[in-house]
Amino acid sequence: MPGNSSGAPASGRLGAPDELIALDGRVVVVTGAGGNIGAGIAARMAAVGATVVSHTRSSPAEPITGRSGRPGLVVTADLTDSDAPRLLVDTALERYGRLDGLVNNAAIQTVAGFAELTDSEWSEMIATNLTATHRLTQAAAAAMAAQESGGSIVHIASIEGSYPAPGHGHYSVSKAGMIMQARAAAQTYGRAGVRVNVVSPGLISRPGIEDAWPDGVGRWKKACPLGRLGTPDDIGDACVFLCSDLARWITGAELVVDGGVMANPTW
Ligand SMILES: NC(=O)c1ccc[n+]([C@@H]2O[C@H](COP(=O)([O-])OP(=O)(O)OC[C@H]3O[C@@H](n4cnc5c(N)ncnc54)[C@H](OP(=O)(O)O)[C@@H]3O)[C@@H](O)[C@H]2O)c1
Repeated sequence: MPGNSSGAPASGRLGAPDELIALDGRVVVVTGAGGNIGAGIAARMAAVGATVVSHTRSSPAEPITGRSGRPGLVVTADLTDSDAPRLLVDTALERYGRLDGLVNNAAIQTVAGFAELTDSEWSEMIATNLTATHRLTQAAAAAMAAQESGGSIVHIASIEGSYPAPGHGHYSVSKAGMIMQARAAAQTYGRAGVRVNVVSPGLISRPGIEDAWPDGVGRWKKACPLGRLGTPDDIGDACVFLCSDLARWITGAELVVDGGVMANPTW
């Protein structure tokens, strides 16, 4: 049965860590689940028992049935549409009667010079990465707050939310905004038992990246103390942890998952 994702169990007995990581009976929405990292997050959630509501916009996505045996479902929406948060949250509540987790993973990563950035490039970035995350967090947190067991929300930001990369200034601003949105939301919803945290990935592998961007991959491997690119599973496991009862006293935090690159001075 779902426990209380932000407090001690009613019995007063804390389970062992391997019990606390389990998400059996919990319902988790993952946005952008048809994408590279989103698919990894959804799969890892299902592997520890969560029932996954996979959101997609245009990528194909199949419902996942994980360890729990309860089939997940797929919901299609453009998250810049102001009705999308209601659709996702209501679908989870109508089908499963609860909502325990949300991973705000969907985003765009367009490249544009900061000095020449147009209003429409700026607006599209902020609307997709920041405004959509804010709206969906409001809708999900309200549903979680109405449950005795609360819930857990994770934003997928980026190390670029702290250190902008060339051509990614507008993206970095959107990711920095997500980090601050999580802190404000943690402050707002904590008393209602809803935790809000951030996972900030470093460079994540995807099929073909070594051929498409050999220079970037080479530089990353040289700078990375753990010597490799991340994988969607690396990010999925950080999300599993933050959605689980192991993270019951963690809110408003940013978990950097980058193989140590942010710890490596470049000057
Ligand atoms: N790749 C990296 O190295 C890296 C590093 C740090 C952070 N991140 C972050 O990790 C997350 C996932 O990145 P990824 O590399 O897996 O990218 P991806 O494969 O492009 O997946 C992103 C997904 O976001 C969805 N999306 C974009 N705009 C949307 C909208 N308006 N409405 C609904 N869905 C929308 C897309 O859905 P459809 O395909 O269905 O249209 C897409 O599948 C992003 O937040 C990204 O900023 C990535």
